[in-house]
This record gives sequence, structure tokens and C-alpha cells, in this order.
Amino acid sequence: MDRIIIRGGQRLAGSIAISGAKNAALTLLPCALLTDEPLTLRNLPRLADVDSFGHLLNELGISTLVAGARGHDFGRVLTMRAESLSSTVAPYDIVRKMRASILVLGPMLARAGQATVSLPGGCAIGNRPIDLHLKALEALGAEIELTAGYVKATAPKGGLVGGTIVFPMVSVGATENALMAAVLAKGETVIENAAREPEITDLARCLVAMGAKIEGIGTERLLIQGRDRLHGATYSVMPDRIEAGSYACAAAITGGDILLEGADAEDMSAILIGLRDAGCAVTVEDKGIRVRADGPLQPLTLSTAPFPGFPTDMQAQFMSMLALADGASVLTETIFENRYMHVPELARMGADIQVRGRTAVVRGVDHLIGAEVMATDLRASMSLVIAGLAARGETQVHRVYHLDRGYERLEVKLQGVGADIERESDG
Ligand code: EPZ
Repeated sequence: MDRIIIRGGQRLAGSIAISGAKNAALTLLPCALLTDEPLTLRNLPRLADVDSFGHLLNELGISTLVAGARGHDFGRVLTMRAESLSSTVAPYDIVRKMRASILVLGPMLARAGQATVSLPGGCAIGNRPIDLHLKALEALGAEIELTAGYVKATAPKGGLVGGTIVFPMVSVGATENALMAAVLAKGETVIENAAREPEITDLARCLVAMGAKIEGIGTERLLIQGRDRLHGATYSVMPDRIEAGSYACAAAITGGDILLEGADAEDMSAILIGLRDAGCAVTVEDKGIRVRADGPLQPLTLSTAPFPGFPTDMQAQFMSMLALADGASVLTETIFENRYMHVPELARMGADIQVRGRTAVVRGVDHLIGAEVMATDLRASMSLVIAGLAARGETQVHRVYHLDRGYERLEVKLQGVGADIERESDG
């Protein structure tokens, strides 16, 4: 396993090219199952999770062809084709490593009339059930069977039938599975209380490019007219708003000035409001978003919420930044039940954080001290890197495979804006 070594105290300045969004890529990849024609995705990030998803699609009989990106463009171009499926089973050994594998359930069921997917199980941040995914597919006529750790879904003889899906709570993944199933269901489907994350808008736009009929894109009510078939398309993955927000926190905590090249301000409104309230100068420019921290950081009171609220995927990174603010911040995590795994590690670096239930009180300290720390989950790992960039002395972040799931060439991008950071093999 590798580790990341950071010697803190460098003021970060310059520009960082933002990659394609991990959480958009992971729902765009399974769209290839919905047609027997080629689907080409551009601006795909080079991430472990994207590679794992590619392997899963190969297992199902999809051919994949990676074309190198030209020039400085970080993104990869991937052409997939599912002329026919050789399997409709997503096995445990793949799903257990990447819970987003569950996103093959809806499209595989819509295309092949059946799908067997290992239950993804929980992860570090919570038990992450899939009951909402299954109820949505049942609303389209699917029969669901749970046996031996697998979910087996079977469509009616004539295929899925449009229906009304009302989500009792907002779920990104369940909305994605429902949408990818509904586009091939017979008749009209209404999805009420749909998640509105930008990654879902990206999915809907890709499906429309493939010939799907979807109204209400970007709203909590989606109206889908099912089609007999979809055709191939070429689609470019949206920029990663969480990667951009993470590097914005790195600029803020080091008193830096970073241009987040390619970032889309529309996807990041709550994040940008948080940065401005914390005292950063945030300007939207032609090439992207510039984040500058000239003075001391101000404390915040923040509650995570579904889009357009403050994203749960930014909570850990903001907590690191606020560890050095002038005063006490109050963060409340409303989405996941265990998303404070970064707190004990930040405390070992000198942060003053008290957690009570879903709320964390972060009292700003004068400085952080570098330490050896352990990554536990993707965004927690990034919060430790952000803290290390400002800490006095050296920070070693172990188990960086967590980071590699969601941050493309992290140390290269940070070196490019002046960070003293390198990757070493744990040997
Ligand atoms: C997606 O996960 C993202 N992952 C997560 O990003 C993100 O944190 C999350 O949405 C919320 O924005 C991908 O897109 C691959 P949910 P997902 O279904 O779809 C509960 C990252 O760091 N729930 O919106 O799994 C669930 O337990 C990752 O990039 C049910 O109860 O999230 C959670 O408490 C982490 N039953 C809440 O809903 C269900 O059937 C929101 O989960 C489904 C979800």
C-alpha cells in the first residue's frame, strides 16, 4: 500500500485542472447496458473506481476500448458496446469493493429482463441499504428476490412497465437506478422526490443523447416516456464538483490562490457560499473558479443536505479547513450515520473537535501539527491531506488507496500549485 508524505506550510498558488466527476462517471458507465450500439464517454477520470466498473462491465459481456486523451487533457475516452450480455450477474467479489456496482441493476433489468447483483453491504460511513432501489424497480413491475446475499430482479414477460415511483427520502443511487430502468419501460414513469444532484442531471442528459424521453431534468419530479430501444451516443462527463471543492479547501487552509480549471459554479453553489462565508474570495472566471484566502478563516454553521444543499461529500474537507478558523464552527451530518471517521485523526494533528451524535463542534486552533494518520474512507482521506498541507512539520497519510478511488493524480495536481507532497510505497 502507498502512503502520501506532506510537509506543510506551503501557500498553494496556481491552477488545477479539474477531472471528470467520479459520481457522474459511475452512473454513466452502466448506460452502455441500455443499447447494443457503442456508447463513448469522454473526460472520464483516471480513478480506481472507474477501472473497477470497467472490469464489471467486461464481466457482463461489454467490450471496452480506451483511447488515450490528447494533450494535457486528464480525461480518458472510453467506448463501450454491449451487443449482447454474456452474463446478468454482478458478483460479490466485485460489488463488495465498489458499492456503485449496484447501478448495473436497473439498466441490466431493463435490457435483459433479469439481473442478479450481490448486495453491496455497508461501508465505513454507514450501512447503506438499497431498499429504495428495490422498491423503485418493483414499481416498474419487477419481481425482487433476496437470496444468499444476492438480489435477483426479474421483469414481467413483456418487459418493465412504466409506473409511479415516490421516494420517501432522497436517494442519489436509487434515483439513478430508477431512471435507467424507466427509459426502456413500456409507457410513462413518474419519479417523485427524485434526487437533484448534478450527477443525475448529467445522467439524464446522456440518456437523452441516447434517445430517451425525459422531462423535468434537474427537478425533483422526473417524467419519462419509455422507448423500445436507445441508440449509441458520445457524451462528455461533467467536471467533478467535489474534487473542485476539495482543492478549494486546500487553497483556503494554506492562505492560497487557486484557479479550479473547468469547475462549474452552477454545480457548486452551496460549496461556494460556504467558502465565501468562511472569508474566501471566490470569483467565477472564463476558465473556471478562482478561490483566494487573504485573511483569517471565519467559523461556520453548516448542515449537510441533498442538492442544492451543502453536500455530505464536502463535510470532512470543510471540517479540516475550519479547524484553523477564528472561532467555533458547528457541522451537522444529516445524510450518513457514521461520517466522522476523520475526527480522531484530525484530533491527533491538534484539531479541537467534539462530536455529539450527528453534530461536530470544531473550535479553531492556532495551528495543526503534522502526524502519521490513517485514511478510512475517501473524503476522510482528503480531509487529512488538506490538514497536512497547513500543518507544521510532516504528515504521513497511510492507506491512500481510499484517495485513489476519487482523486485523480492527487499529488501531481497539488505539486503543480506548490505543495511539498509525494507518494511513497509502504513497501
Ligand atoms: C451517492 O451515494 C454518492 N456515491 C455518495 O458519494 C454521496 O455521498 C451520496 O450519493 C449522497 O450524496 C455515488 O454517487 C457513487 P444515497 P448513494 O442513496 O447513492 C440512505 C463519495 O464520497 N438510503 O443518496 O449510496 C443511505 O443510507 C460517495 O463520492 C437508504 O436508506 O447515496 C443514506 O443515508 C460517498 N436506502 C441516504 O439514503 C436506499 O435504498 C443517502 O444515500 C438508498 C439510500
